[in-house]
Amino acid sequence: MHRRYLFGWLGTKRLFSRNKIAKLMFASALALAMTSAITGCDKLYDLGIGYNQGHAPEQPIPYDHSVHVGVNKIQCQYCHNQVERAKTANIPALSTCMNCHLTVKTDSPYIQKIREAYDKGQGIEWTRVHMLPDHVKFNHSAHVGRGVNCQTCHGPIETMKKVEQFSTLSMGWCVNCHRQPENKAPLNCTTCHN
Ligand code: HEC
Ligand code: HEC
Ligand code: HEC
Ligand code: HEC
Ligand code: HEC
Repeated sequence: MHRRYLFGWLGTKRLFSRNKIAKLMFASALALAMTSAITGCDKLYDLGIGYNQGHAPEQPIPYDHSVHVGVNKIQCQYCHNQVERAKTANIPALSTCMNCHLTVKTDSPYIQKIREAYDKGQGIEWTRVHMLPDHVKFNHSAHVGRGVNCQTCHGPIETMKKVEQFSTLSMGWCVNCHRQPENKAPLNCTTCHN
């Protein structure tokens, strides 16, 4: 970048106004991203703060993957049935739950709550666990279609009583896997950013 252009953009007067500080922060984030992408040094990202690894919010109903997947061997795609076709993995509708729970464990107060919502045509408002920033594009079908396992990114979901975020979901994490020669995955910025 031309020097005068750079300083023109940052501004020389009132360097410490709020707008300038925001620009400086964005510029350093960009510089960090580019340095890391170019040098392949993901350690830079370990300095990152605010990644939600381990995030495991309470859910309105204590839905347990270890009972359903671990003990009862239900396939992930039985419930998350859009994951091979769509960018977003869907959370199943209550009709999927009712395939079993019309008859299974009907004495449970949780199942009764699900039944009530289902009969009224309502859903359950599950709390999101994973959340990439808006400026990032992710696509499930591209990964699942290439044979990347759910567990590679989400960890041992089949043992989790409550889902937790297993990976950092940092840029370094994404890029590091894309960079493996056998993956032949794209590395240009616009693959993941608009
Ligand atoms: C019987 C249905 C069912 C099956 C089978 C199932 N899930 Fe889920 N899954 C759910 C429901 C309901 C939620 C939302 C509640 C929650 O987060 O616990 C969910 C949430 C998730 C989330 C968190 C989504 C978010 O909010 O970010 C991930 C990741 C996930 N499932 C992965 C898997 C994987 C991987 C498998 C297979 C190993 C699997 N699930 C099997 C029903 C299911
Ligand atoms: C393929 C059958 C099947 C499907 C589909 C299914 N479940 Fe289950 N669910 C079970 C079985 C089996 C149990 C264990 C019952 C037991 O402990 O005897 C269970 C247990 C539960 C429990 C624990 C109940 C208690 O009080 O112990 C909850 C809550 C639950 N399921 C919610 C859901 C939700 C929400 C969905 C839909 C996202 C769902 N289930 C879909 C078979 C299923
Ligand atoms: C390459 C890594 C990767 C793989 C493989 C992967 N996921 Fe995800 N998953 C993610 C990321 C990243 C998010 C967060 C997406 C966002 O916030 O936009 C996510 C989010 C989810 C969600 C929440 C809804 C959504 O799409 O945001 C569910 C449910 C889920 N994954 C289930 C699955 C299941 C089931 C599989 C396997 C069939 C799977 N995932 C495979 C990385 C992965
Ligand atoms: C475990 C390895 C792995 C991880 C982790 C991973 N990816 Fe990928 N990604 C791949 C592979 C393999 C492909 C498929 C390359 C192909 O077939 O062109 C791919 C393809 C993509 C594509 C291209 C989709 C298309 O339209 O062709 C996008 C976008 C993408 N990944 C975004 C991400 C983002 C964002 C993250 C992190 C949140 C991420 N990936 C994490 C392995 C990974
Ligand atoms: C494989 C996917 C992927 C590619 C390729 C990628 N990014 Fe990112 N980028 C991400 C993800 C995911 C995040 C959000 C998580 C984070 O901040 O680490 C992110 C965040 C960022 C941020 C914000 C950092 C912050 O601290 O808020 C900048 C700036 C950025 N990327 C620039 C770039 C540039 C420049 C390139 C090309 C050299 C690039 N990215 C290529 C996935 C990618």
